[in-house]
Amino acid sequence: MKTLIKNAQVVLPTGIESVSVLLEDGKIAAIDPASQTAAEETVDATNLYLLPGVVDDQVHFREPGLTHKEDLAAASRACAKGGVTTFLEMPNTVPNATTQALLDQKLALGAEKSLVNFGFYIGATPDNVDDLRQATNTPGIKIFLGSSTGDLLVDEQEALERIFAETTLPITAHCEDEATVRANAEKYRESTNVADHSRVRDHRAAIIATRRAIDLAFRHQHRFHVLHVSTGAETELLEDHRNLITAEACPHHLLFNIDDYARLGTLIQANPSIKTADDSEQLWQALAENRIQVVATDHAPHTLEEKQQDYPKAPSGVPAIENSLALMLNQVHQGRCTLEQVVHWMCDAPARVWDIVDKGRIEVGYDADLVLVDLEKTQQVRNEEQQTKCGWSPWHGEELMGWPVRTWVRGHEVYREGQFDTSRPGQAAVFDHARGGYWATMD
Ligand code: DOR
Repeated sequence: MKTLIKNAQVVLPTGIESVSVLLEDGKIAAIDPASQTAAEETVDATNLYLLPGVVDDQVHFREPGLTHKEDLAAASRACAKGGVTTFLEMPNTVPNATTQALLDQKLALGAEKSLVNFGFYIGATPDNVDDLRQATNTPGIKIFLGSSTGDLLVDEQEALERIFAETTLPITAHCEDEATVRANAEKYRESTNVADHSRVRDHRAAIIATRRAIDLAFRHQHRFHVLHVSTGAETELLEDHRNLITAEACPHHLLFNIDDYARLGTLIQANPSIKTADDSEQLWQALAENRIQVVATDHAPHTLEEKQQDYPKAPSGVPAIENSLALMLNQVHQGRCTLEQVVHWMCDAPARVWDIVDKGRIEVGYDADLVLVDLEKTQQVRNEEQQTKCGWSPWHGEELMGWPVRTWVRGHEVYREGQFDTSRPGQAAVFDHARGGYWATMD
């Protein structure tokens, strides 16, 4: 099947150009092909922008085990609608994905149920270093240096040293210091005020853990990706990356701050916690200066009923995958960043950090994972329109300008203005870790 996307403003690695893109056999076959190219289907994309599909490197899709909150079918529809064509999912499902056999089960579920492409991290425990060493078909190893949703936790120094010393897959971590969080939680034991969540999971907790993980990475010369950076002080640590360290920021830390607790309460309770407006500002600054390379969601769905419990009973986590690209395109409109930066942070950079083959760019030979966006489209985020199984968004009622309108996964159109084609599942992403990650492949 050949599809010709004509006249789009195409975000290429070299800049934005008005060209046509030919999709054939799931690949980008040509860019700016001669106008007489014959294709079974022609898409007139005049006035629209064509972007590489988003690669979201941190999501929680809850299958298996927690499918009352989310599942692969619903979450991957949310991806398709949101312009996300590849997701990398975290291991805190039930059971935790801590062995190759459990990873393989998740890969089989993905192949059966996901509308978009997928990958699954292997979770570290204090004693599964052999599993971590032998794991294949995975973006890398996830360590919870501080506990969050679920019971995955590795915070003993000896176990961490072993993981960094004895494994070769890239490592990523949830960086909040467990001892600091526990001591703070003791102080606020009686509190039912959600604003105290940011005092329990405070700046120190994040900084101590991020510093500790970076130290491990440097000493063991091990690639390391800092998930969901939430404080300005962490962004200073990221300056010294030694070609080993990359980092990620999430829309909820970029766009919400502690003043929003008054309006949104436990809906924006997340781990790491939301911080101050000044911290958010410094995250934006770090993105602009390439101290943070990736924007991803940490899509962490819980039901509204669960979230509406009082603090501290409400679980932590914010669903965002369906709106992350629109949220960032809206920031382009507000002059916060450029479209090319958004494409770097959400598509190209994550594909490079995780060594994903043929994704993240519009280039001949790359997979035809694409999203067409209408930068002039203005629309409200509405709970009742969310595809995610949890059925709500903390951005409910917000009007955003710039929305995905059509999405292709390996040349197959999975989403078109409210309609899904679920006839062809996505595929496992391919990870070629010999590439050496972001710093080794930046041009
Ligand atoms: O807020 C969070 N929720 N942070 C995490 O790290 C985990 C996530 C979840 O799985 O609910």
